[in-house]
Amino acid sequence: MSTEPFAAVELIAVKRDHNELTDAQIDWFVGAYVRNVIAEEQMSAMAMAILLNGMNRREIVRWTKAYIDSGDTMSWSTLGRPTSDKHSTGGVGDKITLPLAPLVAACGVSVPQLSGRGLGHTGGTLDKLESIPGWRAKLSNEEMFAVLNETGAVICAASETLAPADRRIYALRDVTATVESIPLISASIMSKKIAEGTGSLVLDVKVGSGAFMKTVEQARELATTMVGIGNDAGVTTRALLTAMDIPLGRTAGNALEVQESLDVLSGGGPSDVVELTITLAREMLDTSGAKGTKDPTTALQDGSAMDVWRKMISAQGGDIGAALPTSKETHEIFADSEGYLTKLDALAIGVASWRLGAGRARKEDAVQLGAGIQWHVGHGESVTKGQKLFTLHTDEAARFESALEVLTTGFAIGSHAEISDRLPLIIDRIV
Ligand code: URA
Repeated sequence: MSTEPFAAVELIAVKRDHNELTDAQIDWFVGAYVRNVIAEEQMSAMAMAILLNGMNRREIVRWTKAYIDSGDTMSWSTLGRPTSDKHSTGGVGDKITLPLAPLVAACGVSVPQLSGRGLGHTGGTLDKLESIPGWRAKLSNEEMFAVLNETGAVICAASETLAPADRRIYALRDVTATVESIPLISASIMSKKIAEGTGSLVLDVKVGSGAFMKTVEQARELATTMVGIGNDAGVTTRALLTAMDIPLGRTAGNALEVQESLDVLSGGGPSDVVELTITLAREMLDTSGAKGTKDPTTALQDGSAMDVWRKMISAQGGDIGAALPTSKETHEIFADSEGYLTKLDALAIGVASWRLGAGRARKEDAVQLGAGIQWHVGHGESVTKGQKLFTLHTDEAARFESALEVLTTGFAIGSHAEISDRLPLIIDRIV
């Protein structure tokens, strides 16, 4: 005779039949899964029922809390400084975390950032930083605190004990076609951010071909749900909806994106990366409730953000003087006519970069640190015949063919009138 208060199959049927789960039922379902009382196929069935039939706000908040309660939570109260973090839902060429964390720290607010690795066509912050020789993603809680205390910012991997229910359920969703559920994405992201202990949070919810959310409406729903969860949990949370129809900056790939981030920290870099970094920095400073000691534009120009970067990278073993890795092989593409770059599709660039070896197909795969793509002309810019458009980088020349197959579908040269419409970089702000 089972001593469990519920039967998994009955709770799956509740969601299957479009009914609401109670708080006690949610707590039990997630907890019992972590205790291995609920089988993988039962959690898979529940995830599919949630994807198909949704959850109301109360259910999502409780499902998130159950993830948080499955593991440890962190606190930065002994730092004595306000904390703020940023989370991006993922995009192509999205290296913003790299200049942003030291920039916000240089303006007086601490940034405890737990980041992830790339899967599929979107890159991961940890993979990018690992292209710096010696840099370590894995820190103990004590090491994380020490780096944050000494430098004002830390970027590292989440420990296995932070929201372990999400870790397992996310892996299951990946193989059961249940990733694209707003309640499940919201709970997954917000449980990790709340458990991480940040005082405030700015979400960068990407919209467009290179993002999870393909439409502004979907992105707005996801952002509103996550902002609600964060604020209910006592973490002051805001979201920006930002464009991911066109890739960010001029590079996609690990070491290539570190180099572009260094350009931004040196006061240069592509204008869209600079604008988004400064906009997010201002939101983080404002959301943290602290009056920043400096404006982010000044901190990029006067070298103080770069100083924090150097300290932060060195504190995690990174050799800031070492050259970044480069790929063994390159391939260049030149314009066969003159006109304008009328199309530059984020998804095509992301998939091509991934096929060159910058990303991984399975969690266990290694990435090539030097692989990726540079685009030398931006969307809508004029092009002369013979001008260099792209440089592809990989360690294995055999990868060029499949990368080119997708890249050639992702750009076009035409007349000024044919330039495709694009989303504004900052689409909306949800508070
Ligand atoms: N990122 C996460 O951490 N979880 C999701 O469900 C989707 C993106």
